Amino acid sequence: MHYRILGRTGLRVSVVGVGTWQFGGEWGRTYAAADVAPILVAARDTGINLIDTAECYGDHLAEELIGATLPGKRADWIIATKWGHKFHRCFQRDHLFKPADLLTQLEGSLRALRTDHVDLLQFHSGDDAAFATEGMWEAAATAKAQGKVRFLGNSIGANDNIRQTDASTSVGADVIQVIYNRLQREPEAAVFPSCQRQNLGVLARVPLASGFLSGKYRPGHAFPADDVREVWMKNGRDALLAEVEKISANEVPAGVPMAAWALAWCLRHPAVTAVIPGCKDAAQVHANAAATTLDIGQPTHPSRVD
Ligand SMILES: NC(=O)c1ccc[n+]([C@@H]2O[C@H](COP(=O)([O-])OP(=O)(O)OC[C@H]3O[C@@H](n4cnc5c(N)ncnc54)[C@H](OP(=O)(O)O)[C@@H]3O)[C@@H](O)[C@H]2O)c1
Repeated sequence: MHYRILGRTGLRVSVVGVGTWQFGGEWGRTYAAADVAPILVAARDTGINLIDTAECYGDHLAEELIGATLPGKRADWIIATKWGHKFHRCFQRDHLFKPADLLTQLEGSLRALRTDHVDLLQFHSGDDAAFATEGMWEAAATAKAQGKVRFLGNSIGANDNIRQTDASTSVGADVIQVIYNRLQREPEAAVFPSCQRQNLGVLARVPLASGFLSGKYRPGHAFPADDVREVWMKNGRDALLAEVEKISANEVPAGVPMAAWALAWCLRHPAVTAVIPGCKDAAQVHANAAATTLDIGQPTHPSRVD
């Protein structure tokens, strides 16, 4: 595993983390502690120390499963969660960004995670009106001053939201989480340069384009009815899968697993600190961790500390 410094937080994170939306049950299967435990053990064994979760992957369900199964010491892990969404049932949430909502959600996250602090608390993809909610960032700063949160971040919704990215320093956010992958390169234009100017850590989410960049799906593939890719991503899906076929043929070297290649591709950008692929089992964790050993010609990141 390689490690990098997460911008001005100074946190040392593995360049491959584990995304945990999957544990909430919206990816075609449900999870219990017995399913999550081997995933986190695989993460620890491969040197991964970064977990991204959220209040709404189930109603604090992913956090509960992580809290129940986290191997080793709490201090060995960097746990990132979020505020702003209230999960009701699969594929149904409210967006709640008032200061009191933040505090309620944070307390729920701490309880579920069985910890007294999270390392990173991220604004969960709210629009610009939500970003400007009166008192919200002040409430977040208070939680930080109380030691319940080490650092604040913003998981921007639109992956070209330069307005929110530019405002990071003024609201006290030190990390941007953003969709970035071989099919979705919008952050390169303005968001990444802004992150570099402010020395923000950057977590690249959806780095496998929801699994499409694993290369295992062909146009026409139908996902299970309880899979987010069937519920929210039907439009344009076949066009993306056709694009993946071209990338596979033209860009991925023979013998290299496409998923690992796709993660290494993201890590090539000097603004990106880490990728956080969602993992459904231990084998995917191992396959994703292997991205760090791939040399696809990337420039070395200036803050790489290996
Ligand atoms: N607004 C937000 O803040 C926000 C939104 C989205 C995601 N996120 C975070 O970002 C994380 C990553 O995004 P994502 O999970 O949506 O998309 P992703 O990481 O691009 O794709 C995850 C999916 O790819 C497949 N996969 C993973 N590793 C693989 C491997 N080695 N080989 C083949 N297939 C593999 C799995 O699905 P199959 O095996 O079923 O194909 C998995 O569910 C989430 O888990 C979450 O923590 C945050």
